[in-house]
Amino acid sequence: MRSSRPLSIETRIKVILTAIAMALTALTVGTALTQGFFERAGEARLLLETARSAASGLPADHVEPLLKRLKPFWKEAPRAQGAETVRSADGQEWRFVLDRAAIWNALVYRQRYVLVAGLIGLLVAVELAVFLAYSLTRPMKILAWGCEQMRSGRWVRLPTLSRTPYELEALNEAFNGMVDDLKRWQEFQKQAARVERLAALGSVAAAVAHEVKNPLASMRIHLDLLRGRLPEKEKDCLEILGAELDRLNQTVSQLLSYARPRPPLFGPVDVRDLLSWTASMTSTPCRLAAVNLSWAVEEGCPPIWGDGPQLKQVMLNLVLNAVAAQPNGGSVRLEAQRSGQNVALRVEDAGPGIPAELLERIFDPFFTTRPDGTGLGLSIVHRIVEGHGGRIDVESTGQKTVFSVTLPTAPPGKKES
Ligand SMILES: Nc1ncnc2c1ncn2[C@@H]1O[C@H](COP(=O)(O)OP(=O)(O)OP(=O)(O)O)[C@@H](O)[C@H]1O
Ligand SMILES: [Mg+2]
Repeated sequence: MRSSRPLSIETRIKVILTAIAMALTALTVGTALTQGFFERAGEARLLLETARSAASGLPADHVEPLLKRLKPFWKEAPRAQGAETVRSADGQEWRFVLDRAAIWNALVYRQRYVLVAGLIGLLVAVELAVFLAYSLTRPMKILAWGCEQMRSGRWVRLPTLSRTPYELEALNEAFNGMVDDLKRWQEFQKQAARVERLAALGSVAAAVAHEVKNPLASMRIHLDLLRGRLPEKEKDCLEILGAELDRLNQTVSQLLSYARPRPPLFGPVDVRDLLSWTASMTSTPCRLAAVNLSWAVEEGCPPIWGDGPQLKQVMLNLVLNAVAAQPNGGSVRLEAQRSGQNVALRVEDAGPGIPAELLERIFDPFFTTRPDGTGLGLSIVHRIVEGHGGRIDVESTGQKTVFSVTLPTAPPGKKES
């Protein structure tokens, strides 16, 4: 058996209010008409009594015109039962019954304006019921829509409704508050997951790095010794071997710096120095990829309160990513400017952008789309920025990607004047 869907609140409000309006209208009109009817019937009886007493002293042919005056309310009765009689002095008899239909018709005709007004009142009441039902249930429908969106994984905030009862407004605000809390909670969970992954990685990386780094150093030394002994034409192989060893060493170092970060050593970091160092360090990869790098620092930009080498690593990773995203040429623009008590660093490239579905994951350790990437660059950047009490945001379209790093200009709790 299929259970029938319960009536919506909107329908219930409409039905109840319409029923109340109809009942009130019917009661008012009904009372007025019934009262009128009894008044008319009383008048008719008085008329009959007057005619009856007058007829008792008159001959039949004088009574006839008198009886015509009874006609609007009385009609002649075919039978004696239940009828009122009028008798003339010479004994002729007339029988009458009350003509209820005629009285009602006359009454309705006389009260027609009242009836029309009642009908209009009823229509207005029904319209009001519909409007009230709509305005009361609309916020609830929006709320239900919001919950449905949340259930399907889309974050939505409900619009502020004007002229809404305050209870519904409170419900709206509570929903938006819940969404904000959930967002914060999700962000927190992501960070906790990242920290967890990091902790697991930390212990593995420490052991692996210990095992790998020393043999790597010894291999590099022996390779250099070997270079002196081999004839010139054999040295190409050593070059390749050396380059691969360096790459391996760099990967292990990156892994270590992610897994075992050292706490930042804070001090003032000149923004102009930071950007010019980044530009000079990345000039070779930029040249090789035909990427045009430019940079600018806003006049009067204050120094960042941070760890110089760590901030250099941040800029280097961001610029190398931007260059890697444009292997066939393009541009990278570095900008720094004051933003309240902070400095905002911007790294913008004209690359193909990051697909929306990947944006969420780019700061995860080991997430990479490049065959030769470790996927640690942005995780390190994220960790360093967080360690500085700053934040990193990314915006990406099909034509460009912008990383914005906001860093404080003073130690926490110390406001710059
Ligand atoms: N400017 C950018 N334009 C397009 N994609 C980017 C950009 N920056 C980062 N990405 C994407 O984010 C991913 C993660 O970057 P991340 O720096 O963490 O690792 P990686 O560059 O792949 O490797 P590595 O550890 O060597 O830096 C990249 O693989 C790339 O897909
Ligand atoms: Mg990278």
